[in-house]
Formats: sequence, structure tokens, C-alpha cells
Amino acid sequence: MFLNQKLWIFTVFLAVLSGVSAINVHISKENYEVLKGDSATLTCTFQSTITPQLAIISWSAVGTQPDDQEVLIITHYYPMKRTDVKPAYAGRFLLNVDVLRGKAMLRLSSVTSADDKIYECRVLIPGDDEGKSAATTRLVVNEPVSKPVCGIQGTVRSGENINLTCHSEKGSPPPSYRWERWHESVGSKRRFMAHTTTQNGGVLSLYDISNDTSGLYYCMSWNKIRTSTCEVHLSVLLDDSPGSDVFGAVGGAVAGVAGAAAGAVAGVAGAAARAAAGAAAGAAGAASGAAAGVLVSIASVADKIILGDGNNN
Ligand SMILES: *[C@@H]1O[C@H](CO)[C@@H](O)[C@H](O)[C@H]1NC(C)=O
Ligand SMILES: *[C@@H]1O[C@H](CO)[C@@H](O)[C@H](O)[C@H]1NC(C)=O
Repeated sequence: MFLNQKLWIFTVFLAVLSGVSAINVHISKENYEVLKGDSATLTCTFQSTITPQLAIISWSAVGTQPDDQEVLIITHYYPMKRTDVKPAYAGRFLLNVDVLRGKAMLRLSSVTSADDKIYECRVLIPGDDEGKSAATTRLVVNEPVSKPVCGIQGTVRSGENINLTCHSEKGSPPPSYRWERWHESVGSKRRFMAHTTTQNGGVLSLYDISNDTSGLYYCMSWNKIRTSTCEVHLSVLLDDSPGSDVFGAVGGAVAGVAGAAAGAVAGVAGAAARAAAGAAAGAAGAASGAAAGVLVSIASVADKIILGDGNNN
């Protein structure tokens, strides 16, 4: 019994000893989050009980898809102080190594979404091949949502079904969208009742529209970095009105894009004014691109067209 206990203690002692003598490579952060265009420093630390005469330290990267291939980025040879960088990464990737203090920091500048990968730090020291010789971390590259573009699909005429569309070209994590309507009577934005509308991935479907559907609609596009909005002013014509076709709505949507701010859109112009309205709205949209959050009403051309530059994010 007593002897057994002694043996056991001895075994534990040996295990601890061998554990200590093994190499241990470590990255303290599971994720590094950076904004696109910024730089990132991934810090790898390692411990070895032997004082290395030789060491090879490398960083490699692999994409997050299952079939992505791992690529070697940079390799450092100690004590020669030689660092080899793969040509594709030269200039943007730097290694800062201190072998005796057990540090190998990889610095990436001007990160892009292509750098959003899993990075591995590997340390090879001759005579110290037990233990954990590599560690990984994920670099997450975030990008703010770009200003959304609002648009209209369908004919803005009572009794029709239409879609209001909203799309941000860029954004990581991918944008989420929500449409809201300005309520004149309440003087505030409100979310929608489920039975008259549906919202799905930036598309707001409005069914059996009527005069009541007319009004100001806002789309909010956001991710964890930024929120941005665009808006649509909807004027629903009665079905016997002259010139109540889709032309005015399309003209308005195009004008909104031309305004660079992408805010805007559509009412339906009177028959005579349609072509002129589209062109004028385009010009006005461009002109109003700089003025934040202002609604421009082009009353002289067609009082139903209202352009928002939408720069109200
Ligand atoms: C609105 O969007 C839905 C689903 O995306 C589509 O089925 C429908 O045809 C669209 N309506 C119009 C008027 O474009
Ligand atoms: C349409 O609605 C506006 C305001 O909501 C109202 O002033 C107007 O009389 C309505 N027109 C018709 C034809 O119902």
C-alpha cells in the first residue's frame, strides 16, 4: 500500500516532467476581428525547455471552406535569421520573431476579405518534438454595409401587388434588412402588420395596394459595423388615372441610383411629364447627392416625384 503510493507519486512526477519538456505552441485569441483595410497582428507564443540551437517557425493559412488548400505564407529559420515569404504575400505580411523569448508575431497590413482565413503557427525545434507544435486562430475581416439601393418592382396602381427592394452591395457579416413606414398620423416610423405585407431579405411585398399604401418607406440595412438607409416615396394612382403605368416608377428608381446616394424613388408622373421627369429627377438626384438626409421634391416637373438622397445613415 505504502509502496504503491510512492510509485504513483513517482509516475505523476515523471508525467509532469515529460509534459514540461514538450513544446507548447499557443495563440491566446480564438478570433482576431479587423475591419477591411486595417492591419492585424496575430501573436503566437511557444515554450520549450531546451534552449533551441535550431528552430523553424512558419505561418500558413487555410480558407474556411472544407475543400480549401492550406498555403504556406512565411518561414523563419533560426539562428540564420532568414525569413522566406511567399511572393503572393510579400510586402503585406511581416514576421516579428524572438526565438529565445518564444514569440512569433505575424503582421498583415491592408487586409481584404480574401484574408478571412484560419491561420496556423508552427514551431519546429530539433530534439523537442513531443507536445503541441502548432496552434491556430481565425482572422475575421469585417466590412461595413454599403449604402443600400431602394427600388420598386411592379406597377404602382391601386389593386396591384408590388415589391419594394433594398440591397447593399457590400457588407461582412452580410447585411440584414428591415423596411419601415413613416406614419403621418403618429409622426413616427412603424413596422408592418404581417397580414398585409411580407418582408424577406430586403424585399417588402405589398399586396392589393391602394391610396392608403401611399407614403414614405424606409429600408434599413445593417451589420454589426454599420447601419445605412434608403427610402422610397410611394404614390399609388387610382386605376383609371391617365399615365398610371410603371414608367414613372422605373424612372424614379433609376434617378435614385444616378444620385449616387441611391435613396430614392418614384411616384408616378403625369403622362406628359414622364420622360422629362425621369431625366430631371436624375439630374436632381446627382445634385442632391451631397446634402444629407434631405428630401427633394421636384414639384415643378411632376409633383408626385420625390427624391431622397438618403444619406441619413
Ligand atoms: C415580388 O417578389 C416575389 C418574391 O420575390 C415575386 O414572386 C413576385 O413576382 C414579385 N412581384 C413583382 C411585382 O415583381
Ligand atoms: C388619398 O389619400 C389622401 C391622404 O391619405 C387623401 O387626402 C385623398 O383624398 C385620398 N384620395 C382618394 C381618391 O381616396
